[in-house]
Amino acid sequence: MQVLMVASEGAPFVKTGGLADVVGALPAALSPLGVETRVVLPAYPALFPLLPTGKEVARFDDLPGGTGRIVEVTSGGITLFLLDAPQLFDRPGGLYVDEAGKDWTDNHLRFAALSMAGARIAMGAVDGYQPDVLHAHDWQAALAPVYLRMSGRDMPRSVITIHNIAFQGRFGPQVLDRLHLKTDWFHPEGLEFHGDLSFLKGALMFSDRITTVSPTYAREILTPEFGMGLEGVLQARSNVLSGLLNGIDTDAWNPADDAALAETYDVKTLKRKASNRIALSERLGLQVRTDGPLFCVISRLTSQKGLDALLEAVPHLVSRGAQLAVLGTGQPELEQGFRDAAELNPGQVAAYIGYDEPLSHLFQAGSDAILIPSRFEPCGLTQLYGLHYGTLPVVARTGGLADTVIDANVAAIAAKAATGFVFSDVSAVGLAAVIDRVVDAYADTKLWQAMQRAAMRHPVSWESSAKAYRDLYSDLVS
Ligand code: ADP
Ligand code: GLC
Repeated sequence: MQVLMVASEGAPFVKTGGLADVVGALPAALSPLGVETRVVLPAYPALFPLLPTGKEVARFDDLPGGTGRIVEVTSGGITLFLLDAPQLFDRPGGLYVDEAGKDWTDNHLRFAALSMAGARIAMGAVDGYQPDVLHAHDWQAALAPVYLRMSGRDMPRSVITIHNIAFQGRFGPQVLDRLHLKTDWFHPEGLEFHGDLSFLKGALMFSDRITTVSPTYAREILTPEFGMGLEGVLQARSNVLSGLLNGIDTDAWNPADDAALAETYDVKTLKRKASNRIALSERLGLQVRTDGPLFCVISRLTSQKGLDALLEAVPHLVSRGAQLAVLGTGQPELEQGFRDAAELNPGQVAAYIGYDEPLSHLFQAGSDAILIPSRFEPCGLTQLYGLHYGTLPVVARTGGLADTVIDANVAAIAAKAATGFVFSDVSAVGLAAVIDRVVDAYADTKLWQAMQRAAMRHPVSWESSAKAYRDLYSDLVS
């Protein structure tokens, strides 16, 4: 079985969030199951060093936004098809935004080009390569199944995975022509969404299968509260919609073998985790303490993540003798809010505003608990890293968070099954209440260690979800 994935980011090459973790890890998990995956990615500057090591395998003159060539390279066990189109991807700034944080004004061209290149490769543009399935991820790749369907072919089959329905790739109708899309498909049963072109809606209409990244989110997006306007489309196609939980790359994220840690540990040597709290505290200028838990946040700082509510709960957290370490970037007012909180609570609250992959590993190892008060969360990966590192997740009951963390209620504690803390009310009051529960549990060392052991034993690898993807692909092709 050959699968061609199309995505706008993939770890360890380029990453802004969990999408990259998934695209970076799923291919390796599929390989032992007989599924050979290749990934189409844009050649951003971070990938330029790979270009000379690869081979040009296709050239397109008529992509939206101009010409582009495909360079095939293998790196870190993944075969990539890099779309080298400097006029679209060779620029400073972020993957999706310029240096001022504004969306690139030609994002419709950039990601239509990516999608079209993916569709062309799926249809045989690279000599000797013919995938059975085209698997597109998120809005940036969402036109790939549309271009495939426009070609009139029914092979390869197509899958769209929704990692976050808040991002839909919505543009004014005037862009239609430049994207070489059929204008007679521009209507509410096709590509149109309230008068605009929606990349994601196109994929939801024209892919053979729709997946999202947790079973709970698959149900939630059928409702107006979570569907962001696409709930009707999803309801109409609910017979092909499923939720497959993300896993984690347990080689890249392994507390027993992680170069970013002060000391490595596993479930049998949990005591050694303590050195990491000391190292993290020293790095961040936090007072070295053990009489209360150190909470961390590793996150995009956006309203999705509920961190405005956490900011309001910081005084309560500190008054309970707990500490807080934040690693993140995002909305300026949240960045400033956490900087201010750190200044107001020296030694007890620290904010590292920036993106730092190795530091995120030390945050996981050095903290006692990780806070994820999201308003919605398709899957979430940081709670999975937390479980694996014995850093108990404190999560809102939504999406993949609800599917992966077992709340420390009386029954779960009695069954030795509890792995974290789950709460429903994302507000300062709700957070204060759950922080109280965590502080009390931390004071009960026997309970805390039992929960850490249960967390570390909880299966978080890709093993079972990779099988579910394999089954989905096989089903589609047969
Ligand atoms: P999302 O994709 O919505 O941002 P996820 O929890 O799925 O949320 O994935 C976030 C990924 O990005 C995780 O791998 C997390 O460790 C990483 N991450 C987020 N912010 C930072 C940061 N400031 N520095 C390093 N890694 C970060
Ligand atoms: C999105 C979601 C996150 C999910 C990630 C990977 O960015 O916000 O919940 O874990 O994609 O699927």
